Amino acid sequence: MASPLTIVVTGANRGIGQGIINLLATTQHPQPLHIYATSRGGVDLKIQAKPPNEIRYAKLDVSDKSSITSFLKTALNDSGKIDVLINNAGINNNNNETPDAAEQVINVNYHGTKQMCQLFLSEGQMSSTPNARIVNVSSTASSLSNYPSATATRFRSATSISGVDTLAQEYIDSVRSSSQESAGFGAPPKSYQVSKALMNALTVVLARENEGMLVNCCCPGWVDSDMGNQIGRPPKTLEEGARIPVRLGVGQLGKGGDGDGGLTQETELVTGRYYGNDGVTDRGWGRAREW
Ligand SMILES: NC(=O)c1ccc[n+]([C@@H]2O[C@H](COP(=O)([O-])OP(=O)(O)OC[C@H]3O[C@@H](n4cnc5c(N)ncnc54)[C@H](OP(=O)(O)O)[C@@H]3O)[C@@H](O)[C@H]2O)c1
Repeated sequence: MASPLTIVVTGANRGIGQGIINLLATTQHPQPLHIYATSRGGVDLKIQAKPPNEIRYAKLDVSDKSSITSFLKTALNDSGKIDVLINNAGINNNNNETPDAAEQVINVNYHGTKQMCQLFLSEGQMSSTPNARIVNVSSTASSLSNYPSATATRFRSATSISGVDTLAQEYIDSVRSSSQESAGFGAPPKSYQVSKALMNALTVVLARENEGMLVNCCCPGWVDSDMGNQIGRPPKTLEEGARIPVRLGVGQLGKGGDGDGGLTQETELVTGRYYGNDGVTDRGWGRAREW
């Protein structure tokens, strides 16, 4: 039998993360999928995986370094390697954005995701694991079309993680001094949008820094989760929202995957791209596009 692919999904206890586990559990891939459904509480959802796929439940708080390193130690011990990391965990405080709430969003969505990537690449040895992939679950809210062009250019042209960190800090400083608009970030509430634009810039930088790996980000669409319900009645199910993240994790990244994800095909090497559908209500498997 082919050797298993080890996949780690964050925020997998509910919402789109749970949809990703449901979809992976039943995916027939050329390799058995060994799936770590991780969450802050380590909840066992008792989802049945279709053999030879397997699911393990584990605790993992993306904003807590010791939680990440302790997870990595156990996972490497049990599985030997990590092939795919799907950074799905996220928060959105736009409906009640105070300066502290805005900073919390940047801390979880940007710094938390960054810390996960860095520790999985180094301590998790993903940077030396052949064909490893990272998927960062972003949002169409990351679009740079809503910013002054000078700000959009700064996000697009970031060439280092410290450059992205500088943008994150400038945003937080502007929130603290109520000067977001004059600082080029637009009118509040914007922390969710900025956190996801930072995540996309991080994705581009990591893709450049890690040749041989595939690092991409995506919008899952408007999905029927707690977060999706903050802004109305979302049309997409959790499993429909899982399609693009799952495609980027184990499917065909080239155009051959645009129709059905290509979950059993060889993949073209696409990295540093943002994937989404034409609209947030569309149920497709996404395509690479501008953000
Ligand atoms: N729903 C949509 O329409 C939509 C659209 C675009 C993008 N997205 C993105 O899709 C992803 C999933 O969103 P969702 O709609 O499923 O949201 P959700 O229903 O609110 O679920 C968020 C998940 O993130 C977890 N989480 C939050 N902070 C965490 C931390 N520090 N460590 C580990 N896990 C943490 C939550 O765990 P707890 O249960 O412990 O809080 C929960 O499992 C997010 O990145 C979101 O930005 C969603």
